[in-house]
Amino acid sequence: MDPMEIMTIGKKVLREETEKVQEFGQDIPEFIENMKITMVESNGIGLAAPQVGDSRKIITVHYDLEKKGKIIEMINPEIISFCDENEKSEEGCLSVPGITGMVERPLEIEVRYQDIDGNEHVREFSGLNARIIQHEVDHLNKTLFVDRLSYAKRLMIKNKLRKLEEKARQG
Ligand code: NI
Repeated sequence: MDPMEIMTIGKKVLREETEKVQEFGQDIPEFIENMKITMVESNGIGLAAPQVGDSRKIITVHYDLEKKGKIIEMINPEIISFCDENEKSEEGCLSVPGITGMVERPLEIEVRYQDIDGNEHVREFSGLNARIIQHEVDHLNKTLFVDRLSYAKRLMIKNKLRKLEEKARQG
């Protein structure tokens, strides 16, 4: 399997509505395997299907990254609760190359999602795991981390973003 092409900011698919996975056929494990390969090859720590041009609600996440961990997948993930405590930390995104910024997010979340067989799970995540999942679920909701940066930071990166967007539209 070859890695898939990463869609960068400016590509329409990143701003389009995503669809729930209804059928758990053989193409799902294959697609997820390909997402994982693409994520690893690109040195990403999370990936959402729209980033490879697919509008299904699927994400892959490098779980427990600090302890080496493993890559997990979530189908139709939905964040059902957030804790009150927030944390600011630096984020980047394969779809916004060359730009990083501080994003404030809740420290702990509860997520409902389905596995590769369609079985439903509800699980709590905290710290970096919670941050990556929130970033990837944002992708499924047409949101990029740059949308969550402070106004001052967005002004600072405005020209860089415009260049990236022009490049993506031409390519
Ligand atoms: Ni991203």
